[in-house]
Amino acid sequence: MPGELGLLRILAQRIGAVDERERCGGARFAGEGITVRRAARAALALIDSLRLADPIEDLLPADKVKTHFLLSAHAGARRCVLKVYGSPRPAEAAVLRWWAQHALNVVPVEAHADDDVSWLLMPFVPLRHALAQPFREREVLSLTREVAGLMARAHTLALPPAVALSRSSDALHARQPATRQQPMRPGSRADPRADPRADPRAGSREGLHGGVLGGAFAEAAARALDTDASAVCLHGDLSMDNVKRTGDGHLILIDPCGYLGPAEFDGARWIARWAQRGIEARALAAAWQDGEQDVDPRLLLRLAAEESML
Ligand SMILES: Nc1ncnc2c1ncn2[C@@H]1O[C@H](COP(=O)(O)OP(=O)(O)OP(=O)(O)O)[C@@H](O)[C@H]1O
Ligand SMILES: [Mg+2]
Repeated sequence: MPGELGLLRILAQRIGAVDERERCGGARFAGEGITVRRAARAALALIDSLRLADPIEDLLPADKVKTHFLLSAHAGARRCVLKVYGSPRPAEAAVLRWWAQHALNVVPVEAHADDDVSWLLMPFVPLRHALAQPFREREVLSLTREVAGLMARAHTLALPPAVALSRSSDALHARQPATRQQPMRPGSRADPRADPRADPRAGSREGLHGGVLGGAFAEAAARALDTDASAVCLHGDLSMDNVKRTGDGHLILIDPCGYLGPAEFDGARWIARWAQRGIEARALAAAWQDGEQDVDPRLLLRLAAEESML
């Protein structure tokens, strides 16, 4: 197979890093070695069956430890990107395709499948950062308005068909210390009984950053996330890494988790991440509301506070 040696080197390096983390990181990372190997086997088979060729490059930053692969390769004269997970993650491709159908600017999905593992084939799109560094507050707030406007359009769409989105509250529960977790709802994605392939760490691991908020506050935020009445399809992981610009200067969304939850969740994650970099949360929330006027300002700030404490 062309490119086999380079590809094997990429796979081996990433598997080694995951093994190291599993060895040293304790229960939180248990089982990741199996997941990354499943992804590696699938990547090898896909490079072959999709007839992808050299040069094959690793698009993930060298210092990130991931259980999936993101490879740039050539299909004929064209450069494309193959993303391969070691478990089923059907929401990412489903949400990207649904949003593309509704003229939202997202990275296109050319092919995908979701069986034992999920994979996506995309064209290689030249992407640049949405903001030049060093960041200035005024520019961050202006970008926040722009991203909120984009998400306001996404949040008004119906749910994508034929995919069960996990709840944003499950994402939050999975990061809570065990003592503050709410009981799992039978059949929820965080309930390992519901799906034997679900994250075995959910429900037992320590919160990633330690919990410092009062339990009542956290539970109120989680309850707000569980509200079905206003649940929409969320990006779920809005950050500077997942909001880029194309060559013509337009914003483009990549890498959605595709959660189901209140629209405020997306703004809250964005605000929390910028607040951690020193931008004032209330100014960010006001800017977000300029772009997405329907959000509840109290819920936006409450979820942002919860997010930034995790
Ligand atoms: N279709 C694409 N064309 C060109 N570059 C891409 C494409 N998809 C992803 N990338 C590049 O790879 C980087 C990581 O992509 P992506 O966010 O999908 O991966 P990830 O593994 O989920 O990373 P993270 O966990 O850091 O969000 C992006 O920031 C972008 O620079
Ligand atoms: Mg990403």
